[in-house]
Amino acid sequence: MKLRLGVLISGRGSNLQALIDACRDPGFPAEVALVISNKADAAGLARATAAGIPTLVLKPKDYADKPAHEAAMTSALENAGIGLVCLAGFMRLLTGGFVTHWHDRLINIHPSLLPAFPGIDTHARAIAAGVRFHGCTVHYVREVMDEGPIIVQAAVPVLPGDTPDTLADRVLVQEHTAYPLAVRLIGEGRVRVEGMVAHIEGLRAPAPVICPPPNS
Ligand code: GAR
Repeated sequence: MKLRLGVLISGRGSNLQALIDACRDPGFPAEVALVISNKADAAGLARATAAGIPTLVLKPKDYADKPAHEAAMTSALENAGIGLVCLAGFMRLLTGGFVTHWHDRLINIHPSLLPAFPGIDTHARAIAAGVRFHGCTVHYVREVMDEGPIIVQAAVPVLPGDTPDTLADRVLVQEHTAYPLAVRLIGEGRVRVEGMVAHIEGLRAPAPVICPPPNS
């Protein structure tokens, strides 16, 4: 049986789209079963509807407090038989209660090579820091924001003349590969979490990369 994904969004939903597209492959071990947005105008909702996936808008202001809003999300996710919750541009901090409830069944994509640049404005901060590589991270969610066992990372070079926007575009292309890869590894049962480390079974070592390349 396929792993049922619940995807939480707040906006554009391009990572949601990448997951939807990956799930079209009959060999992919997961399916997007429910999309929840905290905003009624999130463009990602139309992507889900176009793919025939049920959507829910749960606005925080309709609930007494944050735990009540999160309880509504949890019951919707559980009613849909969700096995893995994927944060995809969900721009709200989750409380410890939600994070604990979904322990090791809740993952996030963040636009930096964590633990570098947690938080916001990651692309501008990477440029300002002069790093040669930037990228994205898919990780299990823990109570501390942007912390948790790393499943997949993708790195891109930071090029001379990059702006936060050009760098964000280059990272986003990789996000759309990294997120489905992380979900596939989990769906295939190849990820084992031990403390703060996620071990992947059956990995071959990738070649090292240097930037700028030695021949430059
Ligand atoms: C993505 O770049 C994602 O990494 C980032 O928001 C964007 C959402 O785009 N997430 C965060 O910054 C979370 N801290 P999308 O709606 O097109 O997937």
